[in-house]
Amino acid sequence: MSSVESTEIEQQLSAEVIAPVPRVSIHAFCDSQSLSALIQSAAQDRRMDKAAVKTNMGGLAVALTSYRDEQTPNVIVLEVAADRDSFLSNLDALAQYCDDGTRVVVVGRANDIAFYRLLMARGVSEYLVEPFTVVDFIRVISELYNKPGKGVLGRIVAIYGARGGVGASTVAHHTAWSIATKAEISTVLADCDLPFGTAGLDFNQDPPQGIADAVFAPERLDINMLDRLMTKCNDRLSLLAAPATLERNYDFETNAFDGILDLLRMSAPMIVLDVPHVWTAWSRRLLVGADEVVVVAAPDLANLRNLKNIQDMIGPARSNDGKIKLVMNMVGVPKRPEIAVKEFAASISLEPSAVLPFDAKLFGTAANNGQMVAEISGGAKIGQLFENFGRLVCGKPELKKSKPGLLGSLKSSKLSLSFGKTS
Ligand SMILES: Nc1ncnc2c1ncn2[C@@H]1O[C@H](COP(=O)(O)OP(=O)(O)OP(=O)(O)O)[C@@H](O)[C@H]1O
Ligand SMILES: [Mg+2]
Repeated sequence: MSSVESTEIEQQLSAEVIAPVPRVSIHAFCDSQSLSALIQSAAQDRRMDKAAVKTNMGGLAVALTSYRDEQTPNVIVLEVAADRDSFLSNLDALAQYCDDGTRVVVVGRANDIAFYRLLMARGVSEYLVEPFTVVDFIRVISELYNKPGKGVLGRIVAIYGARGGVGASTVAHHTAWSIATKAEISTVLADCDLPFGTAGLDFNQDPPQGIADAVFAPERLDINMLDRLMTKCNDRLSLLAAPATLERNYDFETNAFDGILDLLRMSAPMIVLDVPHVWTAWSRRLLVGADEVVVVAAPDLANLRNLKNIQDMIGPARSNDGKIKLVMNMVGVPKRPEIAVKEFAASISLEPSAVLPFDAKLFGTAANNGQMVAEISGGAKIGQLFENFGRLVCGKPELKKSKPGLLGSLKSSKLSLSFGKTS
């Protein structure tokens, strides 16, 4: 992917993504219940699931007594109480106890440049001005470890079927292809259906290596290895293909795909995951952790029930994210009794983002040829539906606005020095 230069739209897309926070410890010392509640809610977010978060009341005074004989965590969050002068002198005292690498984030109500500069001069990493949202907070913590503007930060879209065989892979492949080809955004399609994946067939590729080498050798995996495992389908679309062989068993640990996804995020602005219709710890983790979840469903009762269950199970862990995007597929199979799309949508309170007709000839020919429907005669209309849907799952990149409540652009670059303990 590295050979294609990042376009402006790709950079905007990257700027919208919040990378998961790494395995760090975060201690917050709050003055108000509202900040404590906000941080506890942030700790439940999918992007913070590796972080260990502890909130305390009592502000900086309590922090000072805690760290006299205790090691400091990776991040300390401090809320400024009314008296700013005593806050600054306590901050100087805290600096003596801070271990190397501990970052300090200060939260306060005053949008005051002079105070901000005093904090920065003391090595504070970020000053957040209240009020702000849970997502603002997560972004600030994430950016302590993933510097904004440094390389791409890919957006992960997981595509999943409400039932087996409903066309989830077809939708995943067409969506990835449309984003790459029509919206011209570099995209990686990762086929997570290792035993049975069809991405290789659908793109007429038979790569010798692919996603299995990455899943089964996590200790060797780095960005160069990942680059070698990907097959280029066209200028902007790369494929991480499934082996689709049955010699080995594919029983994965919960975190089996974590390393791959972390690297994929750094290699392309859009990553589409074809997640097979299985309910395991790892498939659930792929869905919960994605920036966007798409569920493909056909209009029958079993799909409806499963979709409802999927919503219930992954919804709570994604309360700071948008709703699931629903694609209704295979609508209008001749002679099949179906639930009307309107009724289907109403009963789960989810408007479909795309409704695709059943068209055995078009989809069958495309699959047999190893092409996309948009590339074959008569496929323009469905091609357009996929193009629109592809743009939708990319989000709506706007020019980057300054973040609410942050003085981020003024941030000094050579901080955290005075917060390293001098031995
Ligand atoms: N709208 C459609 N009209 C007609 N055929 C379709 C349509 N969408 C998909 N198909 C066909 O249905 C079959 C199953 O599709 P696909 O493999 O994408 O489903 P899946 O949900 O990924 O299945 P699995 O559960 O096995 O992963 C394929 O042959 C595909 O070409
Ligand atoms: Mg599939």
